[in-house]
Amino acid sequence: MRVVDIIQKKRDKEILTNEEIRFILENYQKGEVPEYQVASFLMAVYFNGMTTAELKTLTETMIESGDTIDFPGIDKFLIDKHSTGGVGDKTTIALAPIFGALGMGTAKLSGKGLGHTGGTIDKFESIKGFKFSNSKEELIKIVNETGTGLMGQADTIVPLDKKLYALRDVTATVSSIPLIASSIMSKKLAVHADAIILDVKVGSGAFMKNLDEARDLATTMFKLGKAFDRNIVCMLTNMDEPLGNAVGNSLEIVEAVETLKGNGPEDFTYLVEVLGAQALILKGDVKTLEDGIERVKEVIENGEALLMLKSFIKGSGGNPEICDDYSLLKIATETFEYKAKESGFVKHIDAEKIGKAAMMLGAGRATKDDIIDHSVGLIMHKKVGDEFKVGDSILTLYHQNNMRDEIIEILDSAFVFSRKKVEKISTILDIIS
Ligand code: URA
Repeated sequence: MRVVDIIQKKRDKEILTNEEIRFILENYQKGEVPEYQVASFLMAVYFNGMTTAELKTLTETMIESGDTIDFPGIDKFLIDKHSTGGVGDKTTIALAPIFGALGMGTAKLSGKGLGHTGGTIDKFESIKGFKFSNSKEELIKIVNETGTGLMGQADTIVPLDKKLYALRDVTATVSSIPLIASSIMSKKLAVHADAIILDVKVGSGAFMKNLDEARDLATTMFKLGKAFDRNIVCMLTNMDEPLGNAVGNSLEIVEAVETLKGNGPEDFTYLVEVLGAQALILKGDVKTLEDGIERVKEVIENGEALLMLKSFIKGSGGNPEICDDYSLLKIATETFEYKAKESGFVKHIDAEKIGKAAMMLGAGRATKDDIIDHSVGLIMHKKVGDEFKVGDSILTLYHQNNMRDEIIEILDSAFVFSRKKVEKISTILDIIS
């Protein structure tokens, strides 16, 4: 078999055999196929796509490049809820304890933030002493004790994805649906949770900017999950404005805790309720979304979800009292009010720009080696559809004396205001199940 023939076949829109896909990728991993040939193969995939069968082999080869994790001895129904990333996305912090309170568990890999999007690891690390599981054994132990297992470092899981992603990044082949789907799904399938819930974000703050592209990605990942016989649902959710009101690490912890106390922002609370309900449907505990939402509301109202979060924080080395005393978290004391210059309604928010403003304050990383400041960020007071009067605060920035004109300029370009009333946007755009 010759790599050049495989590239040529894909270039000419022919379907590759399992052996051909494995040959190029396994030998690339061993260092026996040069990057220029794999780059050319990726570009051929970018233009000509892959069938579900080809994609299954590609994904299987990626999974087999490293360790996989299963959970013998855990009798809980384990969920891997994954978001494709956005601004203010603190869903796992509120949702994992809800799964725990509903008698289920969470088992997943979690990432650090980069660019305008934050990462769950960074958010939890706002809590002093908090440590993520670093091994399969630690993950199993904490799932058994607290119902929540999040693993931080995962260099041994799907190492081929890291190598391929680095190459895609410099060859303009990141934005290919089959390559994104296999990259995300290989990391989900390598961890054997009982069900996968994918939250594909759509909009200005998301990786997928429009609904058609996002639906294509969600459908491809759903089919891939089914091809591996997995219990899976994909939701398409709004990222045309930040999720909830808080953006920035400690501030997002506070908002997630408040949500478990029943005081969360409407859009975030609803998303968490629907995701919780989806988990109950996948487990077979309820038949309808409405029944599932009722069960989620119950564990918020009776305080069980909050207790699960405290137990997870304690089990991870952090102080659970942060949930009752936010002064135990580092939150910047310097604030700046970004005020309305006239009266009107919020028509559009470029969530990516809001994420960038928070990143420039230090809440996120411009490059993967940057050190973040957990104390800074922003709180939105007005979202799409909200009315405001001249002088009202649109958002509050929490900063460490590093406010600068550039940040205000970004905010100025992030909002579109209208004099006429504007409809709010739906949080859930579609569900593929
Ligand atoms: N996230 C991933 O993990 N992989 C991609 O290719 C894109 C987003």
